[in-house]
Amino acid sequence: MILPVTAYGHPTLRKKAEDIDQNYENLDQLIGNMFETMHYANGIGLAAPQVNLPIRLFLIDATPYENDIPEAKDFKKVFINAEIVDKRGEELNMEEGCLSIPGIHEEVTRPGEIHIKYYDENWTFHDEKYSGMIARIIQHEYDHIEGILFPDRLSTLRKTLIRGKLKDIAYGKVDPGYKMLYPKLKKKTAK
Ligand code: NI
Repeated sequence: MILPVTAYGHPTLRKKAEDIDQNYENLDQLIGNMFETMHYANGIGLAAPQVNLPIRLFLIDATPYENDIPEAKDFKKVFINAEIVDKRGEELNMEEGCLSIPGIHEEVTRPGEIHIKYYDENWTFHDEKYSGMIARIIQHEYDHIEGILFPDRLSTLRKTLIRGKLKDIAYGKVDPGYKMLYPKLKKKTAK
């Protein structure tokens, strides 16, 4: 099932998400729906707050990039209760987009290497280090479960330049081609 994606300005995107445990109901179904939603919207990462759930869950499918980036080969993973325990390496600029912020792509500066601990969809614990493109994608998705969005990481000037576009997204004045939950869209009175 394709789920609606929370748009910029939605309060769930700003919550620090909570850990879940193995009793979380219908987790397999949720993960399946999130992959389906992400693929439908042509995303490579999706975090639970983007489907209006403030829980520490995100998933990544980098395989569309496998021809260009070797480490993207077979990289399709689920991250539960993730904690980035260390970020290091050279600060790198890379262009990012976000399914919650359609139509905006900006260069974001982030450290090049990360050390992350998390559980996968089978509740197997992982302790891993990543660099390059994968470290970039993980940091973007990890920000989502911390209530952070990529415009927060831009310079004041860039933020000012995209302010109008961000407002348009919040008010539902965009059509990304997938269903969104717009925080400022006026509710229709009759259903
Ligand atoms: Ni995003």
